Amino acid sequence: MVAAGLLAFSFFTAALGAPLAREPLHVHDARSAAPQGYTASGAPHPDTVLQLRVALKQSNNAGLIDKLYEVSTPGSQSYRKFLSKSEVEQYVAPSAESLAAVTAWLDRNGVKATPGTTSQWLNIEVPVAKANAMLDTEFSTFEHSDTGVSAIRTLAYSVPASVKPHLDFIYPTTVFPVKATKAMANVHIASSHRHNSTAHTRRAGVDASCDNAMTPACLQALYNVPTTPATQSSNTLAVSSFVSSSSSTADLTNFLGQFRSDVPSSTTFAVSNLDGGVNNEAQTSVEGSLDIQYTVGMATNVPTTFFTVGSDNGGDLGGFLDLVNTLIAQETAPTVLTTSFGFPEALISQDFATNLCNAYAQLGARGTSILFSSGDSGVDDGEGGSCTTFRPTFPSGCPFITVVGATQGTAPETAADLSSGGFSNFFPTPQYQSDAVSSYLTTLGSTNAGLFNKTGRAYPDVSAAGISYQVVINGTVTPVSGTSASTPVFASIIALLNDRLIASGQSTMGFLNPFLYSTGKSALNDITAGSNPGCGTKGFPAEAGWDPVTGLGTPDFNKLLSALKLS
Ligand SMILES: *[C@@H]1O[C@H](CO)[C@@H](O)[C@H](O)[C@H]1NC(C)=O
Ligand SMILES: *[C@@H]1O[C@H](CO)[C@@H](O)[C@H](O)[C@H]1NC(C)=O
Repeated sequence: MVAAGLLAFSFFTAALGAPLAREPLHVHDARSAAPQGYTASGAPHPDTVLQLRVALKQSNNAGLIDKLYEVSTPGSQSYRKFLSKSEVEQYVAPSAESLAAVTAWLDRNGVKATPGTTSQWLNIEVPVAKANAMLDTEFSTFEHSDTGVSAIRTLAYSVPASVKPHLDFIYPTTVFPVKATKAMANVHIASSHRHNSTAHTRRAGVDASCDNAMTPACLQALYNVPTTPATQSSNTLAVSSFVSSSSSTADLTNFLGQFRSDVPSSTTFAVSNLDGGVNNEAQTSVEGSLDIQYTVGMATNVPTTFFTVGSDNGGDLGGFLDLVNTLIAQETAPTVLTTSFGFPEALISQDFATNLCNAYAQLGARGTSILFSSGDSGVDDGEGGSCTTFRPTFPSGCPFITVVGATQGTAPETAADLSSGGFSNFFPTPQYQSDAVSSYLTTLGSTNAGLFNKTGRAYPDVSAAGISYQVVINGTVTPVSGTSASTPVFASIIALLNDRLIASGQSTMGFLNPFLYSTGKSALNDITAGSNPGCGTKGFPAEAGWDPVTGLGTPDFNKLLSALKLS
């Protein structure tokens, strides 16, 4: 009653054209300091226009998450009975009341909103002076000391009580840009890597050359991946591309000619552009080349689409929101989405992290298997500067995605040093992994005590080879390493399993983790040696069972088929 009265009063004063009665504002989101490396360099010009995105509260996000687990957990009555676009919307569409409360507040401030990518989003343009008043804050220009990356951000903002329960968050406000946009791609040109293998542990059919030059043939032998073409056209593999990571068709043709001479060299991929992104074939990137060659070249004949997302001033993190919301807005969602980009969890706010993670839950409920690389900086996050406690990557900490780490060598296959792994500071350990994580923590004992958050969502979930991939870049075979390599390979294997499922009249795998941590676990090769150093420590050791370097292990296509009762 009181809130309604206040709202009416505000309308009344605004309608009379009187100066706006100052509504009491309440802090909605705050961070204690700018991320490491960023310092405020002054106030932006008051007329500078900020492009903000307003996310409304979703009506029943908890219900949607319950549903996600129901459709993803083996043994559940609705296992793999995915939701349609409109069924998801029934859970998450903001209530009419929320829309009314937020638009009334914007109206009172003379701000006009336009619709965003989904019903959750409104876009607004507000000059700095007005944004400062209406959010009771002071936007500053922040600069990054190493790179000079500059952005207008704030450490906290407030909204009226009438708005607070209806607002999820406002982007970018407290979310800082990635220091160097290149840092988002979890990949690098490999330095020469030499492995001494012990021949007796070599898996059948895996050539010794695979230790130093990973190819599709090596991966097929290592993980029992079929070379036979997929047959189902409803199966789709989506490949994310941020920060102008382009991929060339000529390099793909060259790659297939050298490494997949059994498939037509005309095999290619579709491109879908958003936010002004383009696939610039004349300016290929290491990441784009790798991601396309090891999806098209591994998921034989699975329809593959390269989603190129343009940059924005939000350090590309807005691109993450746009891609997932664009896919959610499609009537038919892709069956697999692979992303080899990530960023430090410390750059973002809990509200932003939660919003993005909930969007992945929606896509998962639609039946998309979402895979992300864990990162290439061991227990650190790749941002540089001093590291006093282990620094998690994002979206690795989101419980609704499958996070892929890296291994090296083949005989035996061990953890790759670079493989990022650890524990989120935002998301608690989800139930599906709690047994696996607590066994690991028992084995770990006091190692790294105090350096990581034991109660956080732990990652990676799984892993795959990540060192010295042979990639054709501008016509030349170049060795490339990173969890960026592991992820498209794991995703391709899921896409090939989906092909078999569809061919036998079943639905696709969807959100993988509840399966992987239960009936799927024994279909993976457990990796038990190696570690992921960082922050001046040896990092976490790989152990029998799940570990925060290689997760549950690397895939075995044939065993996964059996776990799905397809063989
Ligand atoms: C490939 O060549 C183009 C044109 O010279 C260049 O812009 C691009 O950076 C090169 N790609 C890589 C990954 O070196
Ligand atoms: C540790 O993670 C939990 C979530 O599981 C979170 O609530 C808590 O704030 C985190 N602790 C720190 C120090 O970040």
